[in-house]
Amino acid sequence: MKIMIIVGARPNFMKAAPIVSAIRAHNGAFSALESAKGRIDTILVHTGQHYDDGMSGAFFTDLGLPEPDIYLGVGSGSHAMQTAEIMRQFEGVVLSEKPDAVIVVGDVNSTLGCALVASKIAFPGDGDRPLIAHVEAGLRSFDRAMPEEINRVITDHLSDLLFVTEESGIRNLQNEGITPDAIHFVGNTMIDSLLASQEKAKNSSILVDFGLNGSTDSTTSVHQYVLLTLHRPSNVDNREVLLPILEGLQELSSSYPILFPMHPRTRRRIAEFGLEHFFSSGDVTRRRVALHGIHVLEPLGYLEFLCLMRHAALVVTDSGGIQEETTCLRVPCVTVRNNTERPVTVTCGTNTIAGTTKQGIQRAVKKSLEGYHHAEIPDYWDGKAAERIVKVLVSALKGQRSISKASGNVHGDVSAATSHQAIASGILSKATTEDVRSGGERN
Ligand code: UD1
Repeated sequence: MKIMIIVGARPNFMKAAPIVSAIRAHNGAFSALESAKGRIDTILVHTGQHYDDGMSGAFFTDLGLPEPDIYLGVGSGSHAMQTAEIMRQFEGVVLSEKPDAVIVVGDVNSTLGCALVASKIAFPGDGDRPLIAHVEAGLRSFDRAMPEEINRVITDHLSDLLFVTEESGIRNLQNEGITPDAIHFVGNTMIDSLLASQEKAKNSSILVDFGLNGSTDSTTSVHQYVLLTLHRPSNVDNREVLLPILEGLQELSSSYPILFPMHPRTRRRIAEFGLEHFFSSGDVTRRRVALHGIHVLEPLGYLEFLCLMRHAALVVTDSGGIQEETTCLRVPCVTVRNNTERPVTVTCGTNTIAGTTKQGIQRAVKKSLEGYHHAEIPDYWDGKAAERIVKVLVSALKGQRSISKASGNVHGDVSAATSHQAIASGILSKATTEDVRSGGERN
């Protein structure tokens, strides 16, 4: 079996790394049985959508990801140019490698570009195409102004296997008419990475470097601070939107130091809009932060960021994944957006949706800092999502390795092989969740 895994941008790396590990574990079991037949060959493709060391390279080291087998080096551009370049280059890769399955993760342009190529490819000879698996399927913000929402919807409708992280994803996919047999509620591979990296993150020296703690030992008290990320184009590309967001954080920055690892997009916009006066002077590169002010940092590695998130009094963000990570860490999170595609982080976790106005942000910050959080960990966010994904994939590929171009259907009895794991209908009750759980483990 040959499985191709696609990564391209920063949030992809932590979602893909556990799948690479789970495949390694799967292969380990086979070599023990001295049988090469059930082994999976993995091809890791990096599109190069993100290319800086801080946005890409450091994550490979921190997550123990192997060097990509294939690097496309597409770089930046408009959405059309970036997606087109990914597609142009990926087509040749799929044709030469002829994988049995292509796994795409998340909602970035690389996710959509590669899924689209794989869905239309016809291998010479039989005209087949690879099975397409989407990890983190079904999330919906219902906001088509978000490029990621377009990527999510289209990728889901192109995919044969849809791996869902939370129950809302199942409902969304069913409401869009996707067959229940294709939907697999497996949990969250981003949380797999978080749980697997916690111990290593504890050894990060970042708290000491910034003078936030005398020791990295979690028993030692940590000076209170807030962690901030902002990069969403709808928030940072327009001065009229960015200004009230920064004003909304000013009051908070007089009581807490705010650490702000800044995305390259945001850095450029702040310079362009002349908003540097909101920040403590200059970049902080491993210098002690003052007790207040907004301190700009370079983008951080995964383990350092995880360490900062874990000890923060509050995280303020417009990221998708950080809403989930803070829920898992039970750290209050204020999301500077009008919606979320991850509602479980609000209903079950620590997340508060603030909107983007000055008053909305101030209200949400106050509520989050004062409020008592009854945070729960969502179902299946248990560090085993990737293991479940590999089981479903192997089962599907055993049925048949490719998709018939002529019928558009999976060859063989893939749906029968995996349907016991799918959600048959409607909104999940707790009982059905338990059924799925045991089905998932059996598979
Ligand atoms: C992309 C994803 C977004 C994700 C984010 C995480 C899409 C549509 N968006 O947005 O979902 O949350 O990544 O960061 O795929 N740049 C660098 N160095 C890099 C990468 C980018 O300087 O390594 C600059 C580029 O010049 C570009 C800008 O950052 O102009 C934005 O990069 P891009 O990949 O277009 O989108 P992101 O905003 O990062």
